[in-house]
Amino acid sequence: MLIKQPTIPAQPRSTAILCCQKNLMPLSWHMPISREPFRYAIAVRDENITYNMLKEHGSFTLNFLPFSYHETIDKAGRVHGDSVDKLTFCNLVSSANDHNGNLILDDSDFVYECTIIDTYQNGDHTLFIADVTSTLTQENRIPIPVLFLGRGQYCTTTPISQIKMT
Ligand SMILES: Cc1cc2nc3c(=O)[nH]c(=O)nc-3n(C[C@H](O)[C@H](O)[C@H](O)COP(=O)(O)O)c2cc1C
Repeated sequence: MLIKQPTIPAQPRSTAILCCQKNLMPLSWHMPISREPFRYAIAVRDENITYNMLKEHGSFTLNFLPFSYHETIDKAGRVHGDSVDKLTFCNLVSSANDHNGNLILDDSDFVYECTIIDTYQNGDHTLFIADVTSTLTQENRIPIPVLFLGRGQYCTTTPISQIKMT
C-alpha cells in the first residue's frame, strides 16, 4: 500500500564528482539535455563554494568514479572547499587538468569536460547548462555507477549484459 511520506522518497541517482578548478563536490542532480550538440544540466545550491566558483570560472569537469568510491564521495559532501583541500582530504588522485584548469580524477570510469553556456534559477538550486566539449573514458573498463538514494544510502547496478548487435 502506498502511504504519504514527510520526506522526498528515495530515488537512485547517478552520482559524479564535479571539479571546478582545484575544488570538488559530489553531485547527483544532473542530466543530459541535448545529444547534438551534447549538452548537460547540473543543479547546484548557492550555499556551496562550488556555486560561486562556477559563476567565476564558467567551466567544470564531471568525474564518474566507480562504486568502490562511494564512501569517499560521501566524505567529500560533508565539507566545504573554503576550509579543506578536498583532493587531499579524500585521498583522491588527479594527474591532469582539463584545458580550463579543472581537475580530472584519475580513476574515473569516464569524465565530461564542460563549458557553461547558461543558467536558470528557480527554487533553491540553480541549473547550470553546459556544453560537453570533451569526454574521456577508461580503456577496457565497464563502468560500475554510484547511485545515491539520499540519507547516506548508496547502491549500484548489476553487471552490464551486452546484447550482440546484428
Ligand atoms: C551523494 C551526494 C550528492 C550531492 N548532490 C548535490 C547536488 O546535486 N547539488 C548540490 O548543490 N549539492 C549536492 N550535494 C551536496 C554538496 O556536494 C556538498 O554540500 C559539498 O560539501 C559542497 O562542497 P563545496 O562547498 O566545496 O562546493 C551532494 C552531496 C552528496 C554526498
